[in-house]
Amino acid sequence: MAKFLVQKSAPLKGEVKISGSKNAVLPIMAAALLTEEKCIIKDAPALRDVEVMCSLLESLGATVEKDLENNKVIIAADGDIACEAPYDLVKMMRASILVLGALLLRTGRALIHLPGGCAIGKRPVELHLKGLKALGVTIDEEQLLRGIVDASADKLRGNTIYLDFPSVGATEVIIMAASLAEGTTVLENAAQEPEIVDLANFLNKMGARIKGAGTDTIKVEGVEKLKGVSHHVIPDRIEAGTFMVGAAITKGNVLIKNIVPDHLKAVIAKLRECGVEISTTDEGMRVRGDRKPIVSTDIKTLPYPGFPTDMQSPFMALLTVANGPSVVIETVFENRFMHVGEFNRMGANIKTEGNCAIIPGDKNLQGAQVVATDLRAGAAVVLTGLVADGMTEVSQVYHVDRGYEDFVEKLRTLGANILRVEE
Ligand code: EPZ
Repeated sequence: MAKFLVQKSAPLKGEVKISGSKNAVLPIMAAALLTEEKCIIKDAPALRDVEVMCSLLESLGATVEKDLENNKVIIAADGDIACEAPYDLVKMMRASILVLGALLLRTGRALIHLPGGCAIGKRPVELHLKGLKALGVTIDEEQLLRGIVDASADKLRGNTIYLDFPSVGATEVIIMAASLAEGTTVLENAAQEPEIVDLANFLNKMGARIKGAGTDTIKVEGVEKLKGVSHHVIPDRIEAGTFMVGAAITKGNVLIKNIVPDHLKAVIAKLRECGVEISTTDEGMRVRGDRKPIVSTDIKTLPYPGFPTDMQSPFMALLTVANGPSVVIETVFENRFMHVGEFNRMGANIKTEGNCAIIPGDKNLQGAQVVATDLRAGAAVVLTGLVADGMTEVSQVYHVDRGYEDFVEKLRTLGANILRVEE
């Protein structure tokens, strides 16, 4: 098992190029199952989750050419496709559920063994299943009680579906299934994340007829067939936000390249409230934490375009050293404060009550042995390690490897004092 050794670092300086989005590439890879033709996916980040998705698609019978050194994945689901997603792969990556809609369309059946809860919450899929049932899919309720999604459908027919919560995964599964259903589907209270827009763009290139992605109402007119296409994945807005916080917390001056400012409006607004100077240039976004003292602010996570839950722990790292107290409210996941205990081992003295955390701020953090409790929290404790006195040892960094391509190398290029060692 690897771990990170992090020590107090000079202000981060230089430039960093953001990789392709993990949360865009995973549904797009799943969508490649909807055609027998070759799909070429570019700017795919070299991440553990992308490797797992490649293995999953191969286990289902697709031909997958993985060229992650060049951030490219080529998928051709041109043979017989199996209907069962093996548990040993699904338990490694919850996003395996994203193949549900495509499997139903290709084989008329989908058998996916759901893992139990994870560090940040139960992660139920009842909204995914509500949508599919509305499209004519039968779900074996007995199997579901055992955590197995056993879905079957001869034909999918369009329908109007309301999502009780704008679930990202449910929105993605439903628009994939609706793209080849007979008739029109209207999805109301849909998730509006940029990754949904990227998936819809990919599907429309394939010949789908999807309108309204990025708004709360998505309309899909089913078509007969989809074709293979080539597609560049959007940049990872959460990786970008993480490095923006890195520049802020170390009082650095960093140019962040390959970034879509529009995808980060809430994060940019909050960083500016903390006194961080952020300017857009034609090369990217320049983030300066060296211009003014970092002051506190309050955060409430919400579905997009609200403040992203995936940025909650990285942003909290900044708040532990900001001048003054901050309040963080997590409304998206029911258990996403596991990192608070790790920050407190470094002296942050954060108190939590339910989904609310009070961060006193003004702390001189001390290095400590900490754990990455989820992929974003792992990045967050690295950020506090960059400004803490003494050594911070981060273990269970396989979580970080799931969501951040070349995280250590990128930080070291900016002057961070971080090493990856085998335990
Ligand atoms: C996606 O997860 C992302 N993962 C998550 O990123 C991200 O945190 C999340 O969206 C929210 O933005 C990928 O895209 C692979 P949801 P997803 O369905 O689709 C509840 C990361 O760090 N819910 O929008 O699983 C659910 O329990 C990961 O990169 C139901 O109650 O998120 C959660 O509390 C972590 N019933 C909330 O909605 C359902 O049927 C958001 O879940 C579905 C979801």
